[in-house]
Amino acid sequence: VSALTGIALAQEYPSQPVTIVVPFAAGGPTDTVTRLVAAAMSEDLGQQVVVQNVGGAGGTLGAGQVAAAANDGYTLLLHHIGMSTAPALYASLPFDPVTDFAPIGLVTEVPMTVVARKDLEPADIGALITFIKENGENITYGNAGIGAASQLCGLLLQDALEVKMTEVPYQGTGPAMTDLLGGQIDMMCDQTTNTTSQIQAGEIKAYAVTTPERVAILPDLPTLAESGVPDFNLSVWHGLYAPAGTDPAIIERLTASLQAALADESVANSFAELGTAPVAADQATPEALAAQLESQIGLWGEVISAAGVSAQ
Ligand code: MLT
Repeated sequence: VSALTGIALAQEYPSQPVTIVVPFAAGGPTDTVTRLVAAAMSEDLGQQVVVQNVGGAGGTLGAGQVAAAANDGYTLLLHHIGMSTAPALYASLPFDPVTDFAPIGLVTEVPMTVVARKDLEPADIGALITFIKENGENITYGNAGIGAASQLCGLLLQDALEVKMTEVPYQGTGPAMTDLLGGQIDMMCDQTTNTTSQIQAGEIKAYAVTTPERVAILPDLPTLAESGVPDFNLSVWHGLYAPAGTDPAIIERLTASLQAALADESVANSFAELGTAPVAADQATPEALAAQLESQIGLWGEVISAAGVSAQ
């Protein structure tokens, strides 16, 4: 499209509802973040922003669907760190995270928590580590499949402790949380956006956080790094994408809308209650997301191959 057509397009845009695909089940951490952002973007854009959950294959199914969607600005993807780990975890992916998407901006970065059903025996993280080493495959842990943050955390933890547990995959950690609450699975490593309220209500047991620093909203939880798992450092960054080839004027409009959503006080307050925060405005840009994606693909490629995790 010419520059003039682009301007005309952007002035009309959006003239119909915009869909944001979440590549995991409803009720989970990505869904929660996306719904908060979508509601605020909807106000800014003056159009409904609909969230569609396309779970499966650790987020790669939904991402693949958006990669193949029309690049007209009406189908977007909100995905997390999994965009950068999937190339190392899958021998063949139905999309290229770099060339098949037009980045809009970073959204947030979310700490993770090591949690368990509330009647799991160990009283603290030290005791839990001993328990994991002693019980290995007799312990079940829920995750959202290969490519999910919860799966990556499990891989890193098992690698650090040199032990294997039994994975139970779900379409997202929303449904995995339901089973953890019901005691059908033992453990999970999941984002604070999905675990904070259950931890605070005493419905699940929490042992540690995965970030180098403690998390303000859960101040009693030690870091894994301070608990005998040196250098453990994992947080889950999220970005908003359109299919590659989307008109730059539309991307610009969407970046402005994302920035407006992240500057919204009620979004920031809701994020804070969930243990996270919006990224700074200069990070909610296509350039920042492109740079993050590229450096994280490099980082996780090395970490995953060093951990000896085979490609699927
Ligand atoms: C979800 O939304 O279900 C999660 O982000 C899944 C995960 O990556 O662990």
